[in-house]
Amino acid sequence: MKFTEDALKFLNMGIESELSAYVFYTEAIKLIDDPALRSTIETLANDEKGHFLTLEGEYSETVNSEMWVPYRDIMEKPGLPKMDEVLQETHKSLLARVKMLKTKKDVLNMALVLEKEALNLFTEAAAAMTNPDFKKVFDHLAAFEQGHVQLIERELANA
Ligand SMILES: [Fe+2]
Ligand SMILES: [Fe+2]
Repeated sequence: MKFTEDALKFLNMGIESELSAYVFYTEAIKLIDDPALRSTIETLANDEKGHFLTLEGEYSETVNSEMWVPYRDIMEKPGLPKMDEVLQETHKSLLARVKMLKTKKDVLNMALVLEKEALNLFTEAAAAMTNPDFKKVFDHLAAFEQGHVQLIERELANA
């Protein structure tokens, strides 16, 4: 597959964004007692895991690089695998922010910020792509994150 600097940049940014979202949800779930919301957050974490694997697949196929392999090895495990040390190091500031969250509403508000950032990133990426295959991947992810934004807005309205 032909790729540009831009495609590479957005693939890397997308992968980082998905990893952050995954770490956020798997940490945030520890703060939630409400079973319905827990199950929503599990679904979100699973979606982000899938998005990571999609983007990592595109990346390693395109660039022939091992860069994200340590993360992929963990993320390919079934369920919601723990990211442990690898991510504890790279996601320190995110984890510190999660520790500050007190209520269900705090969790949902932070989720909304992350989802909107992801939506903007993938929308921008899709618009920047000249390669139709990459464009399709980013369009698909943008639509998914749009759904996440709406889901969280509904949860917030009921919180
Ligand atoms: Fe995602
Ligand atoms: Fe998302």
